[in-house]
Amino acid sequence: MSQPIVELRGVTKSFGPVEVLKGVDLTAEAGRVTALVGDNGAGKSTLIKGLAGVQPYDGGEVLFAGEAVSLHHPREAARLGIEVVYQDLALCDNLDIVQNMFLGREEMATGTFDEGRMEAEAARALQTLSVKTVKSLRQKVASLSGGQRQTVAIARSVVKQAKVVILDEPTAALGVAQTAQVLDLVRRLADSGVAVIIISHNLQDVFAVADDINVLYLGTMTARIQAKDTSPDDVVGYITGTKTMTEVQA
Ligand SMILES: Nc1ncnc2c1ncn2[C@@H]1O[C@H](COP(=O)(O)OP(=O)(O)O)[C@@H](O)[C@H]1O
Ligand SMILES: [Mg+2]
Repeated sequence: MSQPIVELRGVTKSFGPVEVLKGVDLTAEAGRVTALVGDNGAGKSTLIKGLAGVQPYDGGEVLFAGEAVSLHHPREAARLGIEVVYQDLALCDNLDIVQNMFLGREEMATGTFDEGRMEAEAARALQTLSVKTVKSLRQKVASLSGGQRQTVAIARSVVKQAKVVILDEPTAALGVAQTAQVLDLVRRLADSGVAVIIISHNLQDVFAVADDINVLYLGTMTARIQAKDTSPDDVVGYITGTKTMTEVQA
């Protein structure tokens, strides 16, 4: 196993008396899709918010490329190249695709936005992901389908040269065809060298795209296993707590 780009060691988080993360380990490697699954309330979002620096962990260690790092502010996560694509996507409907991809970090050319450069980089990001479903980069995001919006949100992480991209339920609002497209995109994102962490309720999606599966059960990581070494039935068992796994795959 190569050195993980991100490694969480025994991270904890409580809200008042409620211990939501009880010493959780997680690793993510470049070029791999790491799935994080678990029932509602298991602590998935809390785990991700810690990694994004928006809601720091109380304890434990975070290693980035083998070095201990502090993640107490979204800026610290962004500086390391950790990007989260949230479920609600946070796209601006009234802006076009290029503007959305560069939101908040517009390329400046002597005081004005360098539209030409931004457009070229946006096109390159879509090319990296082999996206062919977007007709014009100057379309307003409001006119896009759910799958295309997800595409723009994911391509934004490529523009930012993210090293770790966390996707929160990227297919939750999509139909069958668009889900397949987005899962392809997730695979290509990993193939481009990014460590992808995907949260999903849909085990069909998880098995279609993930290399590694991590199951969070009431704040404890009860299974960490390669997708090829397990089955949807077993994973359902880990999620509901009727099955446990003591052996951690190396
Ligand atoms: N800001 C908060 N204050 C209090 N409790 C919280 C807060 N955020 C999450 N929780 C609790 O932590 C537990 C895990 O929540 P969450 O991380 O959202 O789980 P998941 O994303 O797996 O559904 C839940 O019991 C939830 O009620
Ligand atoms: Mg959640």
